[in-house]
Amino acid sequence: MVKISVIGAGMVGATAVQRLAEFELGDIAMIDVVEGLPQGKALDMLESASLCDFDVDVLGSNDYSDIEGSDVVVVTAGVARKPDMTREDLIGINSNIMKDVCLHVVEHAYKAVLLIVTNPLDIMTYAALKYTGFEHQRVFGMSGVLDSARFSYFVAAKLNCSVRDVHAMVLGGHGDTMVPLPEYTTVSGIPITQLLSRNAIERLVSRTVNGGAEIVNLLKTGSAFYAPAASIVRMVESVVRDTRRILPACAYLTGEYGQKDVYLGVPVKLGRRGVLEVIELELEDETKAALAQSADSVRDGVKKLNLCL
Ligand code: NAI
Ligand code: 2OP
Repeated sequence: MVKISVIGAGMVGATAVQRLAEFELGDIAMIDVVEGLPQGKALDMLESASLCDFDVDVLGSNDYSDIEGSDVVVVTAGVARKPDMTREDLIGINSNIMKDVCLHVVEHAYKAVLLIVTNPLDIMTYAALKYTGFEHQRVFGMSGVLDSARFSYFVAAKLNCSVRDVHAMVLGGHGDTMVPLPEYTTVSGIPITQLLSRNAIERLVSRTVNGGAEIVNLLKTGSAFYAPAASIVRMVESVVRDTRRILPACAYLTGEYGQKDVYLGVPVKLGRRGVLEVIELELEDETKAALAQSADSVRDGVKKLNLCL
């Protein structure tokens, strides 16, 4: 049986665990520092098993030795931003949490593929690479699946068509510099540039870039978790079932898109061993420049991270 560990039993972590269990993607260990929290949530989920028709193990624990032998570890531990905060405001506190988590992963799950979710995403994924010393193919982050899902929803709502027919693509860092790609966003194969005016697309792009903040401002006490959890499940499924889906992910670049030694959202082929391949798209000059700017902004964040190491 595949073993999946989720670190952090908060809104994103626990919602992801519920969905992973319902999809029966593997036995699950859910770890948190708060005593009773992962145990209580795990028990509550297991009590739904006969109703939701799943039969996998869900273990809630405060003890990292319970992640022993994991195939995949998903890291959602950390602080979520408040309405007056940017994702970058979380660098100091979340990098300390990331270091703690990574040391435990190295001790107990040194063969695992590591999916980082904690914000600021691109910077925390870089931190996880450094703290674990794992090969970069095994350390990647979730953001592009979420940002693309948001873009898909906004496009479908605008066109009043089924969201099932929309396939969106969003690249770049998970923040204000993300780069939605209208030319690679299609409805049943038709680029949205043929279906919507330039102004309409610009409005959808802007709503996508601000998608996380829109939810934070509505919730006031936390950030999004349903769509993030669904995005995690999409990526974990591609890993544990080795389906090799091509998905946007926060991946380490070694020259692709003209970038080196930086994590950035790009399309990748995802399989059992992690990032199997980075897919390079042909981009307009303007889009290339936007992606380079996004990479620079991630590098600026990594410099702040080094101060906290
Ligand atoms: P939350 O506050 O509900 O849950 C975080 C959990 O982490 C808490 O239960 C806390 O006790 C736990 N935790 C803290 N330190 C820990 C440690 N050392 N070991 C184990 N557990 C620890 O927050 P939420 O909403 O679940 O968000 C989690 C993180 O995910 C945040 O940083 C948030 O910004 C990020 N996020 C990222 C997204 C993305 O697209 N990459 C999307 C949504 C959220
Ligand atoms: C989001 O985009 C907060 O990064 C999180 O919802």
